[in-house]
Amino acid sequence: VARRRTLEIRTLGELEAAAAALLPEAIRGYVNGGAAEEVTLRENHAAFGRWTLRPRVLEEVRTLDLATKMLGAEVRAPFFIAPTAYQRAVHPDGERGMARAASHVGILAVFSTLSSDSLEAIARAAPSGPRWFQVYLQPKFVDSQALAERAERAGYSALVVTVDTPVLGSRDQQLASGFAMENPVALGNGRNVVSPPRPPGGPGPRFPLEGGSEASWELLRRLRETTTLPLVVKGLLRAEDAQRAVEVGASAVIVSNHGGRQLDRSPASLDALPEIVEAVGDRVEVYVDGGVRRGSDVLVALALGARAVGLGRPPLWALAVDGEAGVGRFLGLLSSELATSLAILGRRSVQEVDRTDVRPAPLGRSTS
Ligand SMILES: Cc1cc2nc3c(=O)[nH]c(=O)nc-3n(C[C@H](O)[C@H](O)[C@H](O)COP(=O)(O)O)c2cc1C
Repeated sequence: VARRRTLEIRTLGELEAAAAALLPEAIRGYVNGGAAEEVTLRENHAAFGRWTLRPRVLEEVRTLDLATKMLGAEVRAPFFIAPTAYQRAVHPDGERGMARAASHVGILAVFSTLSSDSLEAIARAAPSGPRWFQVYLQPKFVDSQALAERAERAGYSALVVTVDTPVLGSRDQQLASGFAMENPVALGNGRNVVSPPRPPGGPGPRFPLEGGSEASWELLRRLRETTTLPLVVKGLLRAEDAQRAVEVGASAVIVSNHGGRQLDRSPASLDALPEIVEAVGDRVEVYVDGGVRRGSDVLVALALGARAVGLGRPPLWALAVDGEAGVGRFLGLLSSELATSLAILGRRSVQEVDRTDVRPAPLGRSTS
């Protein structure tokens, strides 16, 4: 039954609806919720509606090329699976199913520190990758280093350090849904590995961040020096921070507000993309995630200077609906939408898409 439903799914919107119908309320709140009033969550989508694509006609588009390179690795399309925690909470295939589906079609998948399977088991499930490991800096720096070493040994080809989470955001929808932050499923990477701390509570003049991480630009530099893997800094929204990331040795940055789950009223990631591309785009690769739901969204982000875009919730919806097969279906859908849009835009290759392919939408146009 589930399989038939997957094949009938035509858009990521339908995938979202199918997952919503099937997931228990608490898990749905965990996956779909954002921070506080969810202004940023909504803005992540709305921002794409503020751009128009400018098709060019009568171009030769009989062969379409979606392939690109991310830090030297060939990928079949300019989108990747962003890191999300606890994947087995949505389906027993978990991270291993996600890894196999992505690897099968040559799409990059990034796996979270808070995975339900161990990083080694994920690597064994899809040995050829491409695959990166996302690091949450740990209360003690030695533990962050240990994670980095394990990822390197297990064949991950980059470390994505998420820097937007000194504490978890106020996830109101998630809390209202009854999702308990503490260990919804066992963590795969061992008991030493912890999640960023919950928001501080209680009255008082000072708020000690219990379980807070040792995190600083200097530690990022140290991490960079202790690993041979390239460093990708995830969760930037300001040009100055992107510049600092490059100064400490990052090879790429991901413009991201964590899917609207951290600071409500922070900008849509697409809105922050241009200033970061302008600041560091000539030195490092720039990616963006947040609110990408259509092939045409991918094109807008590429036109504004992103090399590739990440998706967080859609692959989880796909996993929820039909495990590994569902993720395969999702990747196929997004690829064919992207190919369709690319052809009609009048470009043969995603690498040809540039700033002339977009223009701000006329003021007053309603956004998505
Ligand atoms: C359920 C869920 C769990 C997430 N867990 C992590 C995580 O463990 N590490 C991390 O860096 N980002 C995490 N993120 C953020 C995603 O990597 C990504 O930035 C975001 O989901 C992109 O927005 P989108 O969901 O609109 O595509 C999570 C997002 C969701 C929805």
